[in-house]
Amino acid sequence: MTEVDLMRRYPRAKRKLDKPRSSDPENVRKAREFGEAYFDGRREEGYGGYRYDGRWIPIAEDIVNHFGLKAGDKVLDVGCAKGFLMKDLKTVCPGLQVYGLDISDYALRHAEPEAHGRLVLGSGDSLPYADGAFDLVVSINTLHNFERPRLIAALREMERLAPGRGYVQVDAYRNEAEREHFLGWVLTALTFLKPDEWRALFAEAGYRGDYCWTILEMDPEWNDFGDAGEAEACVGAR
Ligand SMILES: C[S@@+](CC[C@H](N)C(=O)[O-])C[C@H]1O[C@@H](n2cnc3c(N)ncnc32)[C@H](O)[C@@H]1O
Repeated sequence: MTEVDLMRRYPRAKRKLDKPRSSDPENVRKAREFGEAYFDGRREEGYGGYRYDGRWIPIAEDIVNHFGLKAGDKVLDVGCAKGFLMKDLKTVCPGLQVYGLDISDYALRHAEPEAHGRLVLGSGDSLPYADGAFDLVVSINTLHNFERPRLIAALREMERLAPGRGYVQVDAYRNEAEREHFLGWVLTALTFLKPDEWRALFAEAGYRGDYCWTILEMDPEWNDFGDAGEAEACVGAR
């Protein structure tokens, strides 16, 4: 179990938080449906437009290199959304067999063509695959959407499918200011912990894969968030 930042080449966000978007319960309600509003609706409700732009290619390269993936290996992305990482993993490593699972029917229906045929609608805490079916299971920006018991179940599922060969990214905070900032910005997360608490949770689940976290830092220079999407906004300090 190693902390390794395979997300380091993901673009950093610029954004403005005049008013914490999670303070409006309607934003939270819509976001948690993981439907059109969350992906392609208003910024206050989620990504504000979740569109493919190739930003996952460097992360796909780092995942392939870190785990030594090769043609024929099988990878599962839990919380694959529209399949952007799936597509880029296949581009970076031709012959890789990439599968995706997500709870969002909307995202899967709007997935990249390269992901078609390998997408499953389901929940990360109950993965419909055999023990040891994959060479790697990744889950980025997804597992913190579970409450603790189901989050532990989801980590156990990852471990079951690819023992010791997982990669998880979740949100974290180090102090009260970061926690407040996080709570104001993030709409869907149900579990937010400090790094040491995450490590303890991973150990409790018996998760032996690798991991990193994103810490949302207040930055007075951030003054514009464009339409780049929640994932961008979720990549702050590391
Ligand atoms: C913040 S998005 C991250 C998407 C993608 N991994 C990325 O980083 O761009 C969270 C994703 O988790 C999915 N999700 C939420 N709850 C889930 C669950 N219980 N099982 C599987 N996917 C879930 C959402 O539909 C959404 O696609």
